[in-house]
Amino acid sequence: MLVVLHSISWMKVLVTHVEYIPLRDPLSGASLESARRIMEEAFIKPSVFRRKEALYPEYVPPSLPHRENQLRRLAEIFKPLIVNPGEASIKAVVVGGVGTGKTVTTRVFGTELRSIARRRGIDVRYVHINCHRDRTLYEVVSEIARQADVPISQRGFSPHEIFGYVHQYIDRQRSFLLIALDEFDYFVDAAGSDAVYFLMRVYDEHPELTKRINYILIMRSLSGLSKVDSATYSYVTRYIVSFEPYRSRELRDILRQRRDEAFHPGTVGDDVIGYIADLEGSDKGGSGNARAAIETLLLAGEAADSEGSQVVSVEHVRRARGYVAPDVVTISDSLQYLSLHELLVLKALIRNLRRSQAPYVTMGSVENEYRDICRLYDEKPRRHTQLYEYVVNMRRMGIVE
Ligand SMILES: Nc1ncnc2c1ncn2[C@@H]1O[C@H](COP(=O)(O)OP(=O)(O)OP(=O)(O)O)[C@@H](O)[C@H]1O
Ligand SMILES: [Mg+2]
Repeated sequence: MLVVLHSISWMKVLVTHVEYIPLRDPLSGASLESARRIMEEAFIKPSVFRRKEALYPEYVPPSLPHRENQLRRLAEIFKPLIVNPGEASIKAVVVGGVGTGKTVTTRVFGTELRSIARRRGIDVRYVHINCHRDRTLYEVVSEIARQADVPISQRGFSPHEIFGYVHQYIDRQRSFLLIALDEFDYFVDAAGSDAVYFLMRVYDEHPELTKRINYILIMRSLSGLSKVDSATYSYVTRYIVSFEPYRSRELRDILRQRRDEAFHPGTVGDDVIGYIADLEGSDKGGSGNARAAIETLLLAGEAADSEGSQVVSVEHVRRARGYVAPDVVTISDSLQYLSLHELLVLKALIRNLRRSQAPYVTMGSVENEYRDICRLYDEKPRRHTQLYEYVVNMRRMGIVE
């Protein structure tokens, strides 16, 4: 009895002690009070952002500048689903490089199609599957069932049985499915061409059925389909919607829209937008990737916030790019491959930047500096077109932007 009492009072001491610890950090002596103050300060600290979420990858913007043609084309391809539902099973391939808006445009199309159809009394269920995550036939059909609200006990059924049941259920409901298989290349690789055949040619054996299932296959390149048999290949590639890399002018519009949503008015100038658009624009040597452009804008805003600046500058973009691509390594690796005159141009560029303290310099001032350096080294200067080529080459190597 005594022992029990003893242990209870010992526990009480321990509990009080444990409760006491978080009140004071023994190392710094910082009390809970000061932690709260630090946090409160961070919460009320002014920020250039008004609604940062508008720059996050999953955010769907209210409009998609420069994707009007792709939306129109998709609408034309899937028109039968609205005017003559059940007549044909429609398949389209959406193809284009990284960050060209394939996923966001397809999602917007699918969701809008669903509500337009509903207004006409047609039940179209839109399903969007990322095959990077769900890449086996079993995973894909289970996910189709889940997203299309098909009640199914998946235990012990083969993917073929599940898909058969999905079709039956959708048929009984007199509904239709539009299934977007995003990053479809992963599915082809992992599940193999038989699985592709099974999904795509679902009506081959039963042509009498009402055609309830339709597909949009999203890929970076058509070479993702090289493994499927040629008949299926030509069957699914009848309708192709291409997404070209964005040009600088187009990225400018996309970035402006995001700026207006995500930042306080007046914090991000058009010069900053133009600078990012030129870095990424396909016509300026970039990859035409809207995701990278938007992410750069986000990181530049964060760089401005972290130094307490009330505006985002080109310098913040440059710092943000440092986070996006640790280019110092790239540059020092590439220097050994430069010719003498490329190195002289680079020297001219560095001198110019150092002297002007500006984030970028014009080609003209680099050229003047280069000529001075050539004189110094007793080298015959190369012509303008040649210099321009050097700069383009260095840009390709990631040395200059
Ligand atoms: N026309 C546009 N208007 C507004 N935002 C866009 C536009 N195009 C792309 N974006 C935005 O750019 C980012 C990348 O787009 P998305 O994810 O659709 O590219 P993707 O082509 O699917 O790329 P990936 O091949 O890497 O999957 C997203 O945040 C998207 O909202
Ligand atoms: Mg995508």
